Amino acid sequence: MKKVGVAILGLGVVGGGTYQILTKHREFYQRTQNVDIVVESVLELNRERALSLGVPEENIASNIAEVVSDPDVNIVVEVIGGVTAAREFVLAALNAGKTVVTSNKELFCKYSHELERAAKRQNAGLYFEASCVGGVPIIRTLLDGVQANEITSMIGIINGTTNYILTKMYEEGSSYEDCLREAQRLGYAEADPSADVEGFDAAYKLSILSSLAFHTKVPFSKIFREGISGISKDDIADGKELGYVLKLLAIGKQSDAGIEVRVHPAFVRKGHPLASVNDSFNAVYLTGDSVGDVMLYGRGAGALPTGSAIVSDIIYAATHSENKYSTFRNTAGADKDVRFVTDFKSAYYMRMTVEDRPGSLAKISAVFGKHGISIVELMQKPAYMEGKVQLAIVTHRTREMSVRAAVARINTFGEVAHVDTVLRVVS
Ligand code: HSE
Repeated sequence: MKKVGVAILGLGVVGGGTYQILTKHREFYQRTQNVDIVVESVLELNRERALSLGVPEENIASNIAEVVSDPDVNIVVEVIGGVTAAREFVLAALNAGKTVVTSNKELFCKYSHELERAAKRQNAGLYFEASCVGGVPIIRTLLDGVQANEITSMIGIINGTTNYILTKMYEEGSSYEDCLREAQRLGYAEADPSADVEGFDAAYKLSILSSLAFHTKVPFSKIFREGISGISKDDIADGKELGYVLKLLAIGKQSDAGIEVRVHPAFVRKGHPLASVNDSFNAVYLTGDSVGDVMLYGRGAGALPTGSAIVSDIIYAATHSENKYSTFRNTAGADKDVRFVTDFKSAYYMRMTVEDRPGSLAKISAVFGKHGISIVELMQKPAYMEGKVQLAIVTHRTREMSVRAAVARINTFGEVAHVDTVLRVVS
């Protein structure tokens, strides 16, 4: 039976889960895959952690050179995170001819061109299923399952931390700050939560997924990004009353106008399949020209779900003699002739505080009329302040730039009206 040696760089949550799956299922993979996958080496500064997971002392390496010079190691798994040491270690492994499996979305998003060049030069594999949406096999789906299609659109909930926070805000009516603290207590959100709550994590993933879906490099810099830290209880409550759930969405679209990529919170109608994706679960909703709609759902983080994605890549690499690389032109930036849509179209929700006197609404609707914005729904409530009301407005589909211009104009009205929130709505 073919024997394949694996090294794991980093035994944190995901590295530990990967080690656990590989050791538990060694005999299962011998039986089902006809391959003996053995963890030959781990690189972990915390030796106690490695020993507590059952790693034999002699398998704990002291540096990267030791790992990449080990002839028994065929596949190197990078689960360190960050882009400094991880980039150096992954390049060292590829340059030594080892296949690399990584869960590092930021590394793959920013340096896929450099890593793929090194991999191809050495005829080594480079696999990254675990970099996006944890245990949900979205990369393999894009690389294999839906290759027959031109993908026209992809809408995903691809960050579990923000989905947990928004779900709690919706269910309990609590503030963003309280729900964030709860997410931190449960270990979903980091002490510095900005990568998740400001949408960076989702944008790295969207850059990778849309590059695969649209067959061209979609750089991180082309992604419109807005996080959830400014969302208030009032926005969630208004949405609930109007029949919407708020989600942090990652949206990728391709049309004759170009490629449109954005990460931002958006209201989703209660009946939409993405509206029922709750807590820390993730989902991606794809539309292909032949297959139609496809939705994948599952856990986007965690030791065993992400370990599952890593081990699937290891098995793929261990059982295929040819390496499989991505089908997009993997350069540092986008191809020169690729157009990106910046003035995208959407429906919008706006919440404003308005002076409660004759003519206020007329002034606001005149601005909307001037910018070609048409109202679908309007809800008025007493405001916290004397003599003011709160308006919640939902518009028909319109242009982002028209909404920005209208909001800027309304915010010049001083006491008469102020726009507190603008959110996009997915119909
Ligand atoms: N922090 C991510 C999330 C998991 O909350 O979904 C890893 O990408």
